[in-house]
Amino acid sequence: MHPDSGWALQPLADMSTAEFDNWCQLLEERSGIVWRHDRKAYLEVRLTARMRELGISNYDGYYRQVLQGARGALEWSCLLDRLTVQETRFFRHQPSFDHVAEYLQQRLAAGQENLSLWSVGCATGEEAWSLAMTAAEVVGTCGGTAGFSVLATDISRTALATARDGCYSARSVAGVCGALREHYLLADGNGGVRVCEALARRACFSRINILELAQTPVIGMDVIFCQNVLIYFRRWQRRSILNQLAARLLPGGMLILGVGEITGWTHPQLVAVDNDKILAFVRKG
Ligand SMILES: C[S@@+](CC[C@H](N)C(=O)[O-])C[C@H]1O[C@@H](n2cnc3c(N)ncnc32)[C@H](O)[C@@H]1O
Repeated sequence: MHPDSGWALQPLADMSTAEFDNWCQLLEERSGIVWRHDRKAYLEVRLTARMRELGISNYDGYYRQVLQGARGALEWSCLLDRLTVQETRFFRHQPSFDHVAEYLQQRLAAGQENLSLWSVGCATGEEAWSLAMTAAEVVGTCGGTAGFSVLATDISRTALATARDGCYSARSVAGVCGALREHYLLADGNGGVRVCEALARRACFSRINILELAQTPVIGMDVIFCQNVLIYFRRWQRRSILNQLAARLLPGGMLILGVGEITGWTHPQLVAVDNDKILAFVRKG
């Protein structure tokens, strides 16, 4: 009998305030995510589940393991997948996508030949593929020889693997309109769909921690789409990240956030878009 086999039946260990503070500090330092005190029980559940898999019986022992060398870094990556909120869906905020379509048309009309879009915090990819479909439609109807590319980034490797795969259940694409499904999604033979090759060729998925934007060589974006990511961050951190994203826009490029992602933020190079259904800014020039 495995020495830990009776463990699963044991109740959750209570996490002390000091232990909770340590975990919260680590999470915020490494990902920016602020873990509220009213979610302590949830943290206990998630950590305990992983600790049971590893045969570790106390939070401090696990904490020390996560801090230790290359093995700790691997473990951290695994744990992050379980602690981050990866909820998403196709065309989650339709007015934002409608605005992106309109904006891309204007970019093409102004002579832009290659459109670069970035989904920041793309989770399992639904947002990135929605952007790709939006751009493909615009380019297809008025683009001539224009092209486009979508960069999709997230901190979670597991979420990125799903995103890159481009395979989704029929239920998760139920909200995608019939014409787009017909153009860009293929039946996968198992009741689900997969993104067509022509669209997949336009997308690139990469692990980027938005706390490390200063070391990220991404520039020249027409559209930066960042929704439901910064809401978990402190206000000063949101501002700092937004300032760095703004610097990665082309002149005339657009930053489009989730409504309520930030209030009262302004940037000397950006002009707010006058549309109360969305939260977007365009770079001057
Ligand atoms: C709620 S999902 C939002 C997905 C999508 N943007 C949407 O609105 O549907 C938040 C995503 O942000 C990612 N995330 C959290 N902290 C991050 C960080 N520091 N760097 C990059 N991505 C991060 C999470 O892994 C998660 O996939």
